[in-house]
Amino acid sequence: MRQAIDNLQISGDGPFTGRCQQLLEENVGCSRALLTTSCTDALEMAALLLDIQPGDEVIVPSFTFVSTANAFALRGAKPVFIDIRPDTLNLNEKALERLITPRTKAIVPVHYAGVGCEMDSILEIASRHGVAVVEDNAHGLFGRYRGKNLGTFGQLATLSFHETKNISCGEGGALLINDLKHLERAEVFRSKGTNRNRFVRGQVDKYTWVNLGSSFLPSDLLAAFLCAQLEAREDIQNRRERIWHSYHAHLKAWSCEHGVGLPLVPPHCNQAFHMFYLILPCLQDRQALIQHLLKSGISAVFHYVPLHLSDMGQRLGGFAGQCPVTEDISDRLLRLPFFNDLAQSQQDAVVDALLEFDGWTKQPEFARGTGSASF
Ligand SMILES: Cc1ncc(COP(=O)(O)O)c(C=O)c1O
Repeated sequence: MRQAIDNLQISGDGPFTGRCQQLLEENVGCSRALLTTSCTDALEMAALLLDIQPGDEVIVPSFTFVSTANAFALRGAKPVFIDIRPDTLNLNEKALERLITPRTKAIVPVHYAGVGCEMDSILEIASRHGVAVVEDNAHGLFGRYRGKNLGTFGQLATLSFHETKNISCGEGGALLINDLKHLERAEVFRSKGTNRNRFVRGQVDKYTWVNLGSSFLPSDLLAAFLCAQLEAREDIQNRRERIWHSYHAHLKAWSCEHGVGLPLVPPHCNQAFHMFYLILPCLQDRQALIQHLLKSGISAVFHYVPLHLSDMGQRLGGFAGQCPVTEDISDRLLRLPFFNDLAQSQQDAVVDALLEFDGWTKQPEFARGTGSASF
């Protein structure tokens, strides 16, 4: 960041932005990467690039962050909510085809917790219906599906560098472009509707307003912060891998005993080690466990509230029972503390507190356990 200041260029598209984009292109394998101010903005750019119009439909999981749906709804599209698989918590590809209509413009798979969606089926269905795929890869940087990096399957993909992510600059994101037909318009949308990028490359002698656009370009100061983390990616990922496996090893027997589900990573997926979650037998157990952990000063948090049941989701026609797996998992999922410098002693304290919990409500018929893998 000192270097960025000394460069006397802290606005966007400076040397650190270029270096981050290059690192992403080389290590993810996308054709081009454009840093953005957030994953939300990258998704909004995707909606602009696909020319989403009022009346279009975009299929999104209900179990995701608001932005996955909002970015497309902002352009007038109707989000069509799809339920998730009970094992990976990714969108249920078997439910996909029946949601496609002549108005469907895009499918937005979210690689939940950095574990790849079933991309073979999703891409096959999308291509048969001529529908675009935009991967919301907010969680899955450096994850792989059948040996191929997440973020390289859709014609577009998005990343998040929000502070909750493995690699972060506080607020930030990237648009990954795999189909280069989108590149020039993407640069214009990102640079306030101007052809500034072409001007900087010497392709035009002045820059001007050429299309609609906005300002999706982060400061080079933020890019410098991000760059240091991208350069340290192996160390960061190794630390997180160790934390994830330590949770798994220490909680496996306990989870079987109490019917608690642990994350499932199919053998054909290399996960991104973004999250470690538990699926408790019921909502009461989850809430009691949150309170129990808080007494030891441990903050463990639930995750997405089903989008189809949100205020906005209901205004769009969402109703209880529409995505039953999402509704169930949303009540029972708990994320354990998981950050890059989580010390072994802190992790031990979390595990000890979990093993001490004795506030179970016995409802074994709802227990998921760890043996429910269907791969
Ligand atoms: C799946 C998913 N998509 C999009 C976002 C939005 O990311 P950002 O905060 O970078 O806009 C998040 C945020 O956590 C997310 O979890």
